[in-house]
Amino acid sequence: MKVVKKLNEMSKISSSLITKGFVLGLVPTMGDLHEGHLSLVRLAKSQCQKLIMSIFVNPTQFGPREDFKKYPRDFEGDYSKAIKEGVDYIFLPTDEEMYGTDYKTFVEVSKLGSIMCGRSRPGHFKGVCTVVLKLFNIIKPNRAYFGQKDYQQVVIIKKMVEDLNLSVDIVSCPTIREKDGLALSSRNKYLSTEERKSAAELYRQLNLAAEMIGGGERDLGKIEKIITGNLKKVKHIKKVDYFNLRDNVSLKELKHAGVSGQKILAATAVWVGGTRLIDNIIIKIE
Ligand code: PAF
Repeated sequence: MKVVKKLNEMSKISSSLITKGFVLGLVPTMGDLHEGHLSLVRLAKSQCQKLIMSIFVNPTQFGPREDFKKYPRDFEGDYSKAIKEGVDYIFLPTDEEMYGTDYKTFVEVSKLGSIMCGRSRPGHFKGVCTVVLKLFNIIKPNRAYFGQKDYQQVVIIKKMVEDLNLSVDIVSCPTIREKDGLALSSRNKYLSTEERKSAAELYRQLNLAAEMIGGGERDLGKIEKIITGNLKKVKHIKKVDYFNLRDNVSLKELKHAGVSGQKILAATAVWVGGTRLIDNIIIKIE
């Protein structure tokens, strides 16, 4: 496994792999790899002939009061996990390498970027799309892999690919969870033991929403209200940013559940102590 720090070198390597006819997979990450990331690597390995993983804590997707500085960084750990999984290249650029000293151009994400997580993290998806587009341009992968835990991110990236006519397949992969249902996230490290227990409530409440729909409740506004109320009562949950039931493709708000076969995204973001956690499930109407 080779570690590449320079953008030009990464471009040259991937161009030569493409010329040789390899199917190129990209797993973009911010490092601190856990089983969630490794599941993306495993799927990518099964579908691609060469695999590049980027590790870059992207400053432009963090707000001024967010956790950019304290975001977990563990390159040694990442290196040994990646080599074990058979990653071919790690792309590890510096901030300077990616953005230089006079960076001016960003991807503007319209409505999709200002709902849900975008409401409390203005500019977040602009930063995500900008860095992802840059990675796509540098590496030119055939396929890129993202986790469904960041459901809104996947929808927005798919839309960017469609709108900007990019030739890369976006593959979204299931959320990997702890035994009690907590979705794996690098930010789980911030939780105290007590907060960690409360964090499992996110997945329970998502499933409760599914049970209510399964039990015949069609008024989604009512379910949103009940689940938001339940989450607010959980010890250590300081704030519920949102609990939403939306169309799973367009992310449009839904007032009522519809016909059999319809898929509804149940998604939430809450503050457990000082840590903002997100999670979601897809509910299929039977
Ligand atoms: O999901 C992430 O880890 C990041 O948002 C991504 C896609 C690597 C862009 O920085």
